[in-house]
Amino acid sequence: MEFNDVLYGRRSIRKYDDKLVSEELVREVLQAAVMAPSGTNQQPWYFCAVMSKEKRSDYLGYMEETYIKFRPKLEQVFNNPEAVKVAGSFITSLGNAPVIILAFLLKEELNEDITSILGVAAAVENLVLAAYDKGLGTCVMTAPSEAGLSDRIKENFAPAKGNFLCAITLGYPAQVPKANRRKEGRFDIV
Ligand SMILES: Cc1cc2nc3c(=O)[nH]c(=O)nc-3n(C[C@H](O)[C@H](O)[C@H](O)COP(=O)(O)O)c2cc1C
Repeated sequence: MEFNDVLYGRRSIRKYDDKLVSEELVREVLQAAVMAPSGTNQQPWYFCAVMSKEKRSDYLGYMEETYIKFRPKLEQVFNNPEAVKVAGSFITSLGNAPVIILAFLLKEELNEDITSILGVAAAVENLVLAAYDKGLGTCVMTAPSEAGLSDRIKENFAPAKGNFLCAITLGYPAQVPKANRRKEGRFDIV
């Protein structure tokens, strides 16, 4: 795919097809993630791809609680009951995504370090763009960490691999939303 098509065509996908994603494709998007730049080449990321039925269902088990705790924020941000319902239904079902990739900040002591957090963010962006290039959809989710479930997710999926930052759902899109309008005035040239 042309790079600009990837950049402008990618959308957050919240409904996925039943079709499974091969482990090979998952490895390819993870490999693209770790090619990201990072401050002083720390490579401060760790990713865990959740694909097995058992582990996927473990992760989904945390999503009901995530919704309950995250709901007040959704109500405040959206101020629209229908939008809250749609966002909530994605949180609790993950849109049927066959793969959930968990992103960690590898060293706990780096938690407050902006350079490291930006390094993980760069890797996550590589991952979502590479996935789109391969016909896959993604949605980055910080709702579970914002809802305070990071410690339990970390213990269950990647103990001793740092702090859980966000999840990325991955699968073949069943529904592609329209692009959200980008706000004006968010860059300048001086
Ligand atoms: C750091 C970050 C956290 C996000 N967290 C969530 C989330 O918890 N739930 C969700 O449905 N979408 C989440 N999103 C997706 C955004 O809502 C989405 O990127 C934004 O609305 C723009 O839409 P687009 O990705 O289709 O261009 C998140 C995106 C980012 C980058």
